[in-house]
Amino acid sequence: MLEGKRIFVTGAAGFIGSNLTDALLEKGAEVIGYDNLWNGRMENLELAQQNRNFTFYKGDVRDYDRLLHLMKDVDIVFHKAAFTSVPQSIIMPQLCNEVNVSGTLNILNSARINDVEKIVYASSSSIYGDTPTLPKHEKMHMDPISPYGVAKQAAESYMTSYHRVYGLNTTSLRYFNVFGQRQKDSPYSGVIAIFIARILEGKNLLIFGDGNQSRDFTYVKDVINGNILAAESKEAAGKVMNIAAGKPISLNELTKIMIELSGKKGIEIQHGPIRTGDILHSYGDITLAKKILGFEAKYDAVSGFKEYLNYYKNIYSSKSKER
Ligand SMILES: NC(=O)c1ccc[n+]([C@@H]2O[C@H](COP(=O)([O-])OP(=O)(O)OC[C@H]3O[C@@H](n4cnc5c(N)ncnc54)[C@H](O)[C@@H]3O)[C@@H](O)[C@H]2O)c1
Repeated sequence: MLEGKRIFVTGAAGFIGSNLTDALLEKGAEVIGYDNLWNGRMENLELAQQNRNFTFYKGDVRDYDRLLHLMKDVDIVFHKAAFTSVPQSIIMPQLCNEVNVSGTLNILNSARINDVEKIVYASSSSIYGDTPTLPKHEKMHMDPISPYGVAKQAAESYMTSYHRVYGLNTTSLRYFNVFGQRQKDSPYSGVIAIFIARILEGKNLLIFGDGNQSRDFTYVKDVINGNILAAESKEAAGKVMNIAAGKPISLNELTKIMIELSGKKGIEIQHGPIRTGDILHSYGDITLAKKILGFEAKYDAVSGFKEYLNYYKNIYSSKSKER
């Protein structure tokens, strides 16, 4: 159904955006990638750039006029560009708001003026905050802790509002702790990306808190599948739903398995103080995505990690051959 569609992907050079771009090109879509390269990398788009159906523009979602122009004749928008770091949003809440809220409004207005058929938005489980109810489901009260979570909540509400008042076909997907190939290994990245790099280098691991905190780690391929299903679904119009593996695992358990699977010896796990804005437990109910989209996660944290580890080892060995 996406074959021949003209698709605009914001955040295309990022972790999720670049994986999505490749999947869309594989389906025969024409993809216009848009990213200011703040956190994204052109190397993530190496495969896409070999495809004549791909065009890339370096630009900012805060630049409304540019978006208005580039989104001409676009059928579908996947809005993935964002200020993505929770700790940095605590340091720079205003910038986070400009990118994640005002930037999203720019996307919505450009989509409305250009008669875009569908917008799929990358929301986040952070909008639930640290509420005790588990699993987190879409009818729950939203109680975000960090400025990042607040901005995601506001942007998601704008998506729903634009559906209600202008009839735009918007769908927001609340991702839970996504991991997998091309995730950046930086202090602001997800824990799996940081730990996999350290484990392969034989370095010790630092867990913030006692490690009993749990997360619903979702493999990137499942997230991409959820996005494609949402773009193709008529029933998803105006809806908000969780996209998760649906299976929580504690950080202590996961790190133990990661070290075992890597085959590395002598790696120690150290514990530091808990980080402000971090939540204790998170785990998503995916009943709604299953009902509306027919979504089912094919991976859990361990099977996803095994695939990610193989990918990482291949990169490592080809880099060391280059040296
Ligand atoms: N990774 C996760 O676990 C997770 C969980 C929930 C939600 N999300 C959401 O999914 C989306 C993609 O996240 P990701 O993990 O791929 O992060 P990422 O940082 O790799 O990708 C975000 C991309 O947006 C770009 N960007 C940032 N500011 C921009 C701006 N002003 N204009 C244009 N481009 C800009 C960055 O350069 C980057 O390439 C984000 O909206 C994020 O909030 C991610």
